[in-house]
Amino acid sequence: MRVVIAGGSGFLGRHLTCALRQSGDGVTALVRRAPRGPGEAGWDPVAGVVPFAVIDGADAVVNLCGAGIGDRRWTDARREVLRTSRIGPTELLSAACAKLSVPTLVNASAVGYYGDRGDDVVTEVDGPGDGFLARLCVDWEAATGAAAAAGVRVVNLRTGLVLGPNGGMLPRLVLLTKTLLGGRLGSGRQWWPWISVVDHVAAVRFLLRGSDSRAVHGPVNLTAPTPVTNAEFTRALGAVLHRPTPWAIPPFALRAALGDFAGEILTGQRALPSVLKRSGFTFLQPELTTALRSFALAARL
Ligand SMILES: NC(=O)c1ccc[n+]([C@@H]2O[C@H](COP(=O)([O-])OP(=O)(O)OC[C@H]3O[C@@H](n4cnc5c(N)ncnc54)[C@H](OP(=O)(O)O)[C@@H]3O)[C@@H](O)[C@H]2O)c1
Repeated sequence: MRVVIAGGSGFLGRHLTCALRQSGDGVTALVRRAPRGPGEAGWDPVAGVVPFAVIDGADAVVNLCGAGIGDRRWTDARREVLRTSRIGPTELLSAACAKLSVPTLVNASAVGYYGDRGDDVVTEVDGPGDGFLARLCVDWEAATGAAAAAGVRVVNLRTGLVLGPNGGMLPRLVLLTKTLLGGRLGSGRQWWPWISVVDHVAAVRFLLRGSDSRAVHGPVNLTAPTPVTNAEFTRALGAVLHRPTPWAIPPFALRAALGDFAGEILTGQRALPSVLKRSGFTFLQPELTTALRSFALAARL
């Protein structure tokens, strides 16, 4: 199959591109800088420029772009960047898929859609929560509306915390834990709906082509079937790295460092991958400790 990926240079995009190419699929990454070879094509989401000739005839578009949610302290200006780097590009790609009758659009979203749900279990049938991330996710998913209205099969990936050795949040947590600064965040009772990058890639590929997944459209939770609390996560990481994690990072320290983003990681969602399980997807790394051990081994941590 021929797949066009926006955000192909990022953590998830790199893993997906690599897996698709290894199995013989054609991948073109949309990049904002000058393209460096035949596997890349330029686009300029701010100016509204998309390469129609590249998207025309593709079997699917996968949109994984967006400025890093936890990369910087949240200020009003940063919140604006987080929104504009997602909504506008998604609208552009959605309109292109509609115009060119691309069969499938797989678009990033996040479990932040559900907001803070305490200990309640949430699945795809649950409505949105409150707060900045929840509103962003609602608008991000709505930005795929033109494609859905034109009959494109649209899948909205409500992704949890993706764990992998060379991107996302895990390397930062590993560094803190190895330097004995690891500890639960606040009470540690908030749920962390994690997923290994191995399963994230496998699930996106399943949603792109698996026969049972053909009918899947709309929101799909990309989270492991075993969400854990932040305290459980912290203990598991400490055990894998053979480091104690007795500390509790106080909320005020997190707020000072991260701004309002602290509020998002001091709360969480006990999200379950109901649609994936119903559709017959088999998780390769459903248990947290197994996933963490495999990454620790791969990275010789
Ligand atoms: N990783 C996770 O745990 C996680 C969890 C939930 C949701 N997600 C979502 O999944 C998507 C991919 O995540 P990731 O971890 O791979 O992110 P990432 O490593 O930060 O990569 C983001 C990608 O977005 C592109 N990008 C950045 N700013 C952009 C802008 N202003 N306009 C257009 N493109 C822009 C980057 O491309 P350039 O090379 O052009 O800068 C990069 O390829 C993101 O939307 C993220 O919010 C990720």
